[in-house]
Amino acid sequence: MATVTIGLPKETKQGERRVALTPSAVALAIQHGHRVLVQVDAGRGAGFDDTAYDTAGAKLVDDPAEVWGADVVVKVKEPQPAEQEHFRSDLTLFAYLHLAAEPDLTDALVASGTRAYAFETLTDRHGLPLLAPMSEIAGRAAAIVGAAQLSSASGGSGTLMGGAAGVPPAKAVVIGLGVAGTMAARGLRGLDAHVTGVDIDLQRLYEHHLDGTVDATQISEPELVGGHVREADLVIGAALVPGARAPVVVSEEQVASMRPGSVIVDLAIDQGGCVATARPTSLAGPTYVEHEVVHYCVTNVPGQFPRTASAALSAAVAPRLLQLADDVAAGRAGTDDESPRLAGALNVASGALAHPAVADAFPQHPRSDTP
Ligand SMILES: NC(=O)c1ccc[n+]([C@@H]2O[C@H](COP(=O)([O-])OP(=O)(O)OC[C@H]3O[C@@H](n4cnc5c(N)ncnc54)[C@H](O)[C@@H]3O)[C@@H](O)[C@H]2O)c1
Repeated sequence: MATVTIGLPKETKQGERRVALTPSAVALAIQHGHRVLVQVDAGRGAGFDDTAYDTAGAKLVDDPAEVWGADVVVKVKEPQPAEQEHFRSDLTLFAYLHLAAEPDLTDALVASGTRAYAFETLTDRHGLPLLAPMSEIAGRAAAIVGAAQLSSASGGSGTLMGGAAGVPPAKAVVIGLGVAGTMAARGLRGLDAHVTGVDIDLQRLYEHHLDGTVDATQISEPELVGGHVREADLVIGAALVPGARAPVVVSEEQVASMRPGSVIVDLAIDQGGCVATARPTSLAGPTYVEHEVVHYCVTNVPGQFPRTASAALSAAVAPRLLQLADDVAAGRAGTDDESPRLAGALNVASGALAHPAVADAFPQHPRSDTP
């Protein structure tokens, strides 16, 4: 099998300290017969220093252009504008892309002919194995962040999640009880809040109703959800339709009906947001106030827990990366013979959109029917 060169750049998104591969995953790729270029300081923010990558057998390089010159580039966040100049037709990219919410990035990938695989749409029989680890972390973080934003010191209403003797607990509504929503609900229940879980999947609601992850369940119908949102101290958005723009479940009118100082944490913002008033924020400026409601809409929530998040992400990514590198080496990548272990991941190839939901979001671009 031909040797494939894998590039691991240092992340450039604001506040992002994760790295896609730990030194042990790099060692695995090298044992597998590939070459790995690691940008100096790529793992530093997550607590993995250059020496560890060097010991693992990687070549450390200073110049981002050299790392991006690899056959396959694996990274955490969607390429930022300055990184897009490295796109080229013989590059294979493997990262979170969230293209339905990233028209400029989509245009650049299509124009360059880069073959782009998205972590968040890779599918197996359990669901979305490369999104799940970060959703788990983001969900846990959303409970902590949401509770903290409710303090008056943070501009919130001054409501404590668990209430007190004679004072009812805060009301939280979690929209989308998948991986992120479930972890958020668990965290909020741990703080003794009253949690209502909303989903369109009745079976999922049934399971949560039975196992007690939430205090109450609500099918996702606009009028009914609106009633809960109006009463809520904290709303967490975590609804997802894979590959597509997030469904807007909470309207602006419903946001305006919330009590002043209430808080919205919209995790689904990376796919465009499931609250009408949500717009992307960064870890440097995570919140804004609209209709007197605090909005926290950070697109890389796990980026502030880089040690845990990098270890979890790398463990999930490494086996699929090896498969992808093998497919690239064998000329199978992006063809009908591609490994089923990469199912659903291909988003862009040869200037066309290869994922149906992404293609639906951008009808102006050519679409293809590759796997
Ligand atoms: N902001 C961040 O840093 C960050 C980090 C990780 C994940 N996320 C995002 O969190 C979101 C959730 O991810 P996940 O892994 O939990 O997804 P998931 O697929 O596990 O769960 C999504 C849930 O949303 C439900 N849903 C779909 N449409 C709905 C609707 N109209 N109303 C109510 N529920 C609906 C689905 O039935 C499912 O239960 C995604 O957008 C993901 O990208 C954000």
